[in-house]
Formats: sequence, C-alpha cells, structure tokens
Amino acid sequence: MIQGTTKLFGLVGHPVEHSCSPLIHNTLASLMKLDMIYVPLHVYPENVNQVLKGAYALNIQGMNVTVPYKNVILQQLEDVDPFAVQVGAVNTLKKTQTGYKGYNTDTSGLFLSLISRGITLQNKTVVIIGGGGAARATAMLCAKEKAAGITICNRTRNKAEMIKKDILQHYDIPINVVTPDEFILQNAVDLCFQTTSLGMHPKVKESPVQNHTFFSAVKVAVDLIYNPGKTKFLQMAQSNHCTIINGLGMLLYQAVQAFEIWNEVKVPPDVVEQVRELLSERYQWI
Ligand code: ATR
Repeated sequence: MIQGTTKLFGLVGHPVEHSCSPLIHNTLASLMKLDMIYVPLHVYPENVNQVLKGAYALNIQGMNVTVPYKNVILQQLEDVDPFAVQVGAVNTLKKTQTGYKGYNTDTSGLFLSLISRGITLQNKTVVIIGGGGAARATAMLCAKEKAAGITICNRTRNKAEMIKKDILQHYDIPINVVTPDEFILQNAVDLCFQTTSLGMHPKVKESPVQNHTFFSAVKVAVDLIYNPGKTKFLQMAQSNHCTIINGLGMLLYQAVQAFEIWNEVKVPPDVVEQVRELLSERYQWI
C-alpha cells in the first residue's frame, strides 16, 4: 500500500518499458515487508543531465540506471564505489546526505550468480566474447577475482585492446586480445562469457560462435542474456557437454544487491529463491 511514508525508488533508462526490475523490486519489498515502491523513470537523452538534481529534489531514495546511461551518470556523481570507477559504469545509486553514491551491482550480481552455481573465478582461464560495456565489466570482475588469464575475443580489435589497457592499469593479469577470425582455442578454458547482444530476443537464431568444436575445450559457458533463457550459444554449448549458465541469475542478484544497499538489509536465500521462481516463470526456457 502506498502511503505518506512510502519510500520511492526507480529505474532510469531509455527505454524502460520492457524492464522487469519493477517486478523484482516490488516483489522483494513485499516479501521483505518494506514500505517502498519502485517505478520506471523514462529519461529522454536531452534530460539526462538533470536526473540527479531532480531525483534528489524529489527525495528519491535510490535508483537503478540502465542503457544508455550507465557511463554518463557515473561522470555526474560525487561519490562512486572504487570498483564501479574501474568498470566505468554504475547501475545502482543510493541517496546520501549530499547527493547520490554510485555502485556497480551488475558485476557483483554476475559474481554471485556464479557462486550460486558453485563456480569461482580465482585461477580460472577465461574467454570473453565481445568488446562493449558488458565485456569490460566482465573482464574487470575476472581480473579483480584473480582469474589465471583472460582472452577477449571481439570483432573490433581496438575496443578489446582498450579494455585490456584499462584492466592492466589496475591488475597484473595475462590478457590476450583476438578477433573471431584468428581465434583458435589451444588450451582448455574454464569459463567462456558471451557478452554481445547476439541471440537476444527476437534474434534468437544468432550466435557469435558458429563452430561446435569451439565448445570442446570449454567447461562452463555463460551467456549474459536472459531472454531467451537458452540462447543459440548456450544450446550449442550444452550439446557439447558444457555446463551452461544464463543471465537470469545475474539479473536477479544485481537487483538483490541493489535492494540490500538501499535498505541496509540482508535478503535471505529463501526470498531470493522466491523471486528467482517468479522470473523463471516469466522467462521460460525454450
Ligand atoms: P554493451 O555495452 O551492452 O556490452 P555494446 O557496447 O553495444 O553493448 O557492445 C556489444 C558488443 O557486441 C560489441 O563488442 C560488438 O562488437 P564490435 O565491438 O565489433 O562492435 C559485439 N557485437 C554486436 N553485434 C555483433 C555481431 N554481429 N558479430 C560480432 N560481434 C557483435
């Protein structure tokens, strides 16, 4: 029930209509019995510079930030979590005395989603497909968590080289940059992350990897896409006996982490599971 004391939270993005964050956060609020509401806040590009001032004036307690504002908002914040600075993107803002503090729970969400499947990153060999913001965040997470080495495979070499350069400013880790044409897997790979939008609904027949032999060296294939639940990439990986993980866990845990930061609470595992079931129903595995 919305009442005079209800705290306001929301999602800043463009577009925001298809987001399931309102469903996740309002369900969490109800299960955790907190007096809050989470609403979509559609921000048009010409207004993005006023978001923080406007939200602060309206006493909005916290926001998620989605495409295309994860970088631009970071540059406007007074306080940012150090790892979010390294990633170069924020997706969670919490109101403070003077403004908003930014965090990146996409990365901690991805990490927790792996942990929930019993998978850690330390000493693992990692291949990352893609060179955009999601690839950058994944690569920075793997470096922070002390992976043994990272190969970034992207169509545009330059973008992957930029990510490599940024990671090496913070971490001492072997990083290899390749393009798909020149990429030959020679050694076993513990984890392969698919970070491009290829295979996302409605283009479900696409995959950045076409060759089935690629998967013979891969133990765990992770696709950051959650709709469809099983992308072409994951279908191929599964038929080649890889363990497969989709983006649903990352979606779930980035939200749980944001919720915990905002409300200074710990969401118990059974509540996380209830929200996971709700999401699984919505994003049926096809
Ligand atoms: P995000 O910030 O969400 O990661 P992005 O910046 O648009 O999204 O990055 C998408 C990534 O998918 C890019 O690395 C892109 O490759 P390029 O750097 O060469 O542009 C990759 N990508 C998109 N479409 C692709 C395709 N058809 N084949 C291969 N890679 C593709």
